[in-house]
Amino acid sequence: MNNNTKKPAHFLWGAATAAHQVEGNQHNDWSIWEIENASRMREIACKKYADLKNWEEIKPAVESEANYISGAGADHFNRYPEDIAIMKRLKIDSFRFSIEWSRIEPRPGEFDEAALVHYRDVITQLLDAGITPFITLHHFTNPPWLEDHGGWHGSNFPHLFARFASYVAENLAIDVQYFVTFNEPESYMISRYLDSPIWPAWPNQERSLRRYHLARRNFIRAHKLAYTAIKRHLPNAQVGFSHGVVWFEGSGLSGLCARLLDHYSGTGLYRKLHGAQDFLGLQYYMRNIIRISWSNPFSWPKMPTSDEPSDFGWEVYPEGLSHILRKLKAYQLPIYITENGIADSHDTMRGDFIARHIEVVDEARKNGIDVRGYFYWSLLDNYEWSTGHWPQFGLVAYDPVSKARKIRQSAWTYKSIIQASK
Ligand code: BGC
Repeated sequence: MNNNTKKPAHFLWGAATAAHQVEGNQHNDWSIWEIENASRMREIACKKYADLKNWEEIKPAVESEANYISGAGADHFNRYPEDIAIMKRLKIDSFRFSIEWSRIEPRPGEFDEAALVHYRDVITQLLDAGITPFITLHHFTNPPWLEDHGGWHGSNFPHLFARFASYVAENLAIDVQYFVTFNEPESYMISRYLDSPIWPAWPNQERSLRRYHLARRNFIRAHKLAYTAIKRHLPNAQVGFSHGVVWFEGSGLSGLCARLLDHYSGTGLYRKLHGAQDFLGLQYYMRNIIRISWSNPFSWPKMPTSDEPSDFGWEVYPEGLSHILRKLKAYQLPIYITENGIADSHDTMRGDFIARHIEVVDEARKNGIDVRGYFYWSLLDNYEWSTGHWPQFGLVAYDPVSKARKIRQSAWTYKSIIQASK
């Protein structure tokens, strides 16, 4: 790498996880629901993935009900010291992880001391290892009691979420600088309230445009209240949310539709939180092509087919990240890429995938776009929501029985990219 691509000292080289996907043994709305719905998820997945090029390979997992239950997973809840040591070896200097709301507040208004001690230790060990904690407060899961209080669409949601955020900032995350309030709120709300094909199975799924709008309004209020609460306890904290942005394309009428979608739920969503975010958290995985026709005016945008797709069938398209970053320049806020990753069980594509996306970041920075960090998704193989355990996004694999970690070759590639940039 030449000198132009050297990152400033504060550029964060990260890896990301989410509590439900790696910790194991949760008790939240997902863990309850996935047990009740494993056979339905299995049925949906058997239809959805049968066309994938790797179908024969994934078939045994897709057809097994156990695949859909998060269970003990990677057991990161107990093995975090080992995982922190791995990050240190890989020169990863920032770790994005989520604090599980249902562990901290198992009953409304009652906070659990043991959970607090646990996450405090995670933070302490990270700081001791020279790794910057980047905390997510909500990553798709809710405490089981939230639904009885109206869920996201209930009028109490902003207050309930802000109370949790305030508690974390005051009692747990006193040494933490970076906070993500919500992970991909649009993905959550579309999946929960609009029955989306992205995740065709989701706890309490329904189709209600009215509730979707209520939830969206509540998410904005919840974020703003949490922002203020965190700043009250930690005035120097940097607070934002992680937004999953898809690069939409289309021509003619479809192009207009692509722009509208981007305005409403893509890059335009950040505008709704104007004044209540210190950075833009961006998650980038894919582009979608829109083809509206009179015979099918309401079809969902589709991902283009690709000769070399990921295990999930997703196209690799770093150019989409470049287009999005250019649009985000107008916000004049620091940008953190809080997720970007690929399901690649053979680890033949991941190294190149990371290098190509980081090239885009370098290019963007040369053009004056203030990108301050990159978090690969994910540190570990994990539970991929209603798809279950088979998609392998991790820099690090683990044995399903012994839980022993195995660092993949691509993780060393990532390490060499990090080292070359310093
Ligand atoms: C989510 C992760 C998920 C990843 C890959 C993101 O939308 O935040 O939880 O595992 O995509 O699908």
